[in-house]
Amino acid sequence: MSAIAASTHLVGAGVDRVDGPLKVQGAAPYPSDVAYPNLVHAALVRSTIAAGRIKHLDTGAAEDVPGVLAVITHKNAPKLERGPMTLLGPSPQTPLQDARILHYGQYVAVVVAESPQQAVGAARLVELHYEPADALLEIDDLRGERRANPWGLDRHRGDVGAALASADARFDATYSTAINVNNPIGLFATVAAWDGDTVTVHDATQWTKTVQTTIAAIFGIPETDVRVHAPYLGGAFGAGLRVWPHVILAVLAARIAGRPVKLVLTRPQMFTGIGYRPSTEQTISIGATRTGNLVALEHRATIAIAMEDEFPEPVTLGSAASYACPNASVGDIEHRLNIPPPGSLRAPGEAEGNFALESAIDELAHQLGVDPLELRLRNYAEVEPQSGLPWSSKGLRECLTLGAERFGWWKRNPQVASMREGPWKIGYGVAQLSYAWWQVRCEARASISRDGTAFVRSAANDIGTGTRTVMTQLSAGLLGLELERVRFDLGDSAYPWSPGAGGSGLTTSVGVAVHAACHRLLQRFLDTVATDADSPLAGRTLDEVAVAGGRIHRRDDASAGETYSEILARHNLDDLTADGEGTPPDAAQLEVAPSGPFAAKFVEVRVDADLGLLRVTRIVTAVDGGRILNEKLARSQVIGGTIGGIGQALFEDVITDPNTGRIANATFGDYLIPVNADVPDIDVVFVGKPDPLTAIGTKGVGEIGLPATAAAIANAVYHATGRRIRSLPITIDQLL
Ligand code: MOS
Repeated sequence: MSAIAASTHLVGAGVDRVDGPLKVQGAAPYPSDVAYPNLVHAALVRSTIAAGRIKHLDTGAAEDVPGVLAVITHKNAPKLERGPMTLLGPSPQTPLQDARILHYGQYVAVVVAESPQQAVGAARLVELHYEPADALLEIDDLRGERRANPWGLDRHRGDVGAALASADARFDATYSTAINVNNPIGLFATVAAWDGDTVTVHDATQWTKTVQTTIAAIFGIPETDVRVHAPYLGGAFGAGLRVWPHVILAVLAARIAGRPVKLVLTRPQMFTGIGYRPSTEQTISIGATRTGNLVALEHRATIAIAMEDEFPEPVTLGSAASYACPNASVGDIEHRLNIPPPGSLRAPGEAEGNFALESAIDELAHQLGVDPLELRLRNYAEVEPQSGLPWSSKGLRECLTLGAERFGWWKRNPQVASMREGPWKIGYGVAQLSYAWWQVRCEARASISRDGTAFVRSAANDIGTGTRTVMTQLSAGLLGLELERVRFDLGDSAYPWSPGAGGSGLTTSVGVAVHAACHRLLQRFLDTVATDADSPLAGRTLDEVAVAGGRIHRRDDASAGETYSEILARHNLDDLTADGEGTPPDAAQLEVAPSGPFAAKFVEVRVDADLGLLRVTRIVTAVDGGRILNEKLARSQVIGGTIGGIGQALFEDVITDPNTGRIANATFGDYLIPVNADVPDIDVVFVGKPDPLTAIGTKGVGEIGLPATAAAIANAVYHATGRRIRSLPITIDQLL
């Protein structure tokens, strides 16, 4: 902590991305760029039915294509284990293990050929005949197996039934959200190269170490024989948190072909093979006093999940932590369908659950005639409402009040459909968000060389969020070095263990490990000179020194010190290295509720009175993200998240053929995402203070921008038009 304070000019500064120049020059190695001599290419064949089995399979024509090296199907694939349990639940199915089809788009063959064109051409010639079975495709299909509290995340307090029954005011409604697909610009790609019984994998993953562990388990080899590189990827939004079947198939194909294999997914394959935000149906019941104090809150969500898969999508969990309300019951129900396996998409669960909760709160406000912002402040959770413990830090009130001021909330005419400019009906909407806390044990290693440069590393990932940059800043601050003297590297499974870039938790997880590693490294320097009569630092403890300008000096006398280089040279050392581990705080023992980030979102929409056109014209987002390590990058995260929220609110909707399960709009031409013309200036303000639970004070900002956007937009649409839209996306036809 002391070292951070000493170097505040680096931490928090809006420095540019350290990898920016490489990226704009096209020199950053993305997995699809990786080349090997002798590289061959794989193409996938996908099931065209959603349920049933492969009755007949003929690969002869494909095998006869010039350049084809192998056609692998369930008939000739080796028996492979299923991947291991992970921090985020069990691994997805291992592909090509039997003739059963569980969803449309399931891989049924992989073709390996000298050129990508040969592989794709031959893949089309694989002949498949299916015996289809009745597919369960719709979330309201009552034949589907349903399971309550599937992930043990349901929360209950008080007596909701009794409180609802006796409440002065009561509100009930049903909401639904569509399937939204992770659509990073970078197509997911894997390059696998075996050397004897060891394999190197270059992958578009958010979690290098889970790819290593999973490939080792599935192929029955030691983890040390799997090396995974993931220095860059073209976005992911959560899609890279699981090890998907195509990764396994690339590794398998390379083993069978005896050559390095590159596999790049097509855009349609991205819609079925790398997870997505599943559809939900949600009911909310609220009981309140006449003056708008919540007395009961019930939130139930049905969430679509794939056959023989398990992945937590906690939709209602956030509702338990949102408001001071003595009686609450929130719970998830998974509903099994013949759909491609869902996975995380930025703010998984919260994105859907917050839409329902924050729409319902707005509806209650209108029902009671209370200003929607006022209603939120009136029910502000001063303590964590489920546990009753104090928050480790909470700046949501500041988000609400400062955000309102910046936006001009109080200029709003509370009357619905009362604000108009020419053909445009104007509406203001607000929503708030209490995001989940997530920090995972993580390791880092730090070295300083005789030339006075530092090298800090962890197996962590930078998915475009800026991990490399903020960890360079943090390391530089902790070691008292200029940025140019520090290299932070990641995305290599050979580096110390790190969790994935997910759950808005990586900055804190890695940051705490980097903090520990840098402090231990400083300690090693002090140990080295402990009995060194030539050193002005001899016998000094960490508390007695500070760092600046590549030099350790005494706190009580800045002139008494020496550089890292001087210490290393005098002791004949090339470098010193130290490992650090960051562990999540034991919150239970501290008797506080560890706090995630908080946000308030204010939106202005305009709806064309005649045409139903809906435009989002202003958005203010106020965020408590704890200590912000780099305001420029943090702002980018919130802007990007907000745009994802506009997509969820207005555009994104996977259309599934009810007969075959085929996704009818699996291209960028047909699946709509926001473009520049759909996105107004997005104003972001940070109001948080360093969170005291960790030495670095950060909270995650990777996902905080997304949820609350959809609800704020829907609430603004209601204010503009009097139309309450309870299903996402909000489309023109609903506004005519
Ligand atoms: Mo995120 S959906 O935790 O990458």
